[in-house]
Amino acid sequence: MNRITIMNHPLLQHKISRLRDKSTGTSEFRSLVEEIAMLMGYEALSDLPIKEIEVETPIETCMTPVLAGRKLAVVPILRAGLGMVSGITALVPNAKIGHIGLYRDEETHEPHEYYCKLPDPIEERMIVVTDPMLATGGSAVAAVDFIKKHGGKNIKFLCIIAAPDGVERLQKAHPDIQIYVGHLDRELNENAYICPGLGDAGDRIFGTK
Ligand code: PRP
Ligand code: URA
Repeated sequence: MNRITIMNHPLLQHKISRLRDKSTGTSEFRSLVEEIAMLMGYEALSDLPIKEIEVETPIETCMTPVLAGRKLAVVPILRAGLGMVSGITALVPNAKIGHIGLYRDEETHEPHEYYCKLPDPIEERMIVVTDPMLATGGSAVAAVDFIKKHGGKNIKFLCIIAAPDGVERLQKAHPDIQIYVGHLDRELNENAYICPGLGDAGDRIFGTK
């Protein structure tokens, strides 16, 4: 079964509380999503492969670790996942970036795909999928299905807020992936929005409502 990491760092929790506040405006919201992604990325990337290289310091020559190869791909689920990308690439500037375009049908709440493009080849990369919200889990499951269909294996899913239903659905469908959650919320409402949540993440990041 997957490892699920529920983050409890006070800095992260503080920033999530600012996100929840409906009076937080677009500019601050965007910055917070980026900062939270960076904090979550720091934790999620703790097993990136490293290798030793020789470096000459002003004092002497030593062997010292660096990241081994350009092996990371960040794959945001559009739109809202895009807001988390810069937080991860601030940590790993050479990461490749894929895109998975999905929107939820307002009636059925099931995801519909409209654009997908992954770095090629993807097989050997560690893949970090980003989406601020894991609600019913439909979008996350569809995104990971797509990545696996194209050969992706080493997959981590980062979300800022999750509902228990979404975590359960993602774990059942993809027991091999690692899931990182900023905060596990109470439940979904009748419109499949997370309660207490933060509202519509895409609209708040892009200022579309
Ligand atoms: C939101 C969110 C997730 C999805 C979560 O995207 O960013 O992708 O809903 O819901 P689920 O777990 O029930 O699938 P939305 O479909 O609203 O698209 P947007 O990011 O373009 O606003
Ligand atoms: N998508 C969002 O943006 N927010 C929710 O609460 C659920 C799905």
